[in-house]
Amino acid sequence: MNDYVIITERLGLRKWKEEDVIPFTAMNEDAEVMRYFPSTLNYDETIAMVKRIRSHFDKHAFGLLAIDDLSTKTFIGYTGFMIPSFTSYFTPCVEIGWRLQQSSWNKGYATEAAKACLHYGFETLNFDKIFSFTSMLNTRSIKVMERIGMKKQGEFDHPNIESSHPLCHHVLYGIEKLKLA
Ligand SMILES: CC(C)(COP(=O)(O)OP(=O)(O)OC[C@H]1O[C@@H](n2cnc3c(N)ncnc32)[C@H](O)[C@@H]1OP(=O)(O)O)[C@@H](O)C(=O)NCCC(=O)NCCS
Repeated sequence: MNDYVIITERLGLRKWKEEDVIPFTAMNEDAEVMRYFPSTLNYDETIAMVKRIRSHFDKHAFGLLAIDDLSTKTFIGYTGFMIPSFTSYFTPCVEIGWRLQQSSWNKGYATEAAKACLHYGFETLNFDKIFSFTSMLNTRSIKVMERIGMKKQGEFDHPNIESSHPLCHHVLYGIEKLKLA
């Protein structure tokens, strides 16, 4: 229990462990999980992503947290904060993101984890405003944004995605500290 940075009713959010790489790879190789990303990620690409997450923690002292289902103590995905590496009209900013293995969808886990994470971001990390964005087509993720109290700020074309690609057009959501429910 002591490893958890954030604990909710059903979930524990913590820093990454070596053993997360296997279930994280399985999740990143699932085409349905990665439907709104340019491609799935294999084992080596997943290792590279975990390294980037760790470097982000080293640089900023916050980042994406692994999520355990507390009833089984097993990894089910992640949520947490990142500083986007691209430039747009709302950057630099802090972004909240999430990704869960498919067997953990439709249980309210993403919303539960993200809501607790927002609270941590405002109260402990002292952020003033937190953004989230995704492809216009990613309705599941947009519903998480809305359920945690974020409001639509606008739309933008992701600068790292080819403009003719169906995933290029994004929605931008945001929430300010005072507006947290
Ligand atoms: C985005 C993602 C995390 C959303 O998962 P999700 O299961 O739809 O969202 P939640 O975990 O919040 O679950 C909410 C759903 O569980 C249902 N639910 C079932 N039991 C529940 C319970 N006990 N408590 C709360 N909700 C429950 C809710 O009704 C809701 O379903 P609805 O939207 O049909 O009404 C998931 O689709 C995912 O990992 N996608 C791939 C990665 C991705 O696209 N990330 C975002 C990129 S920016």
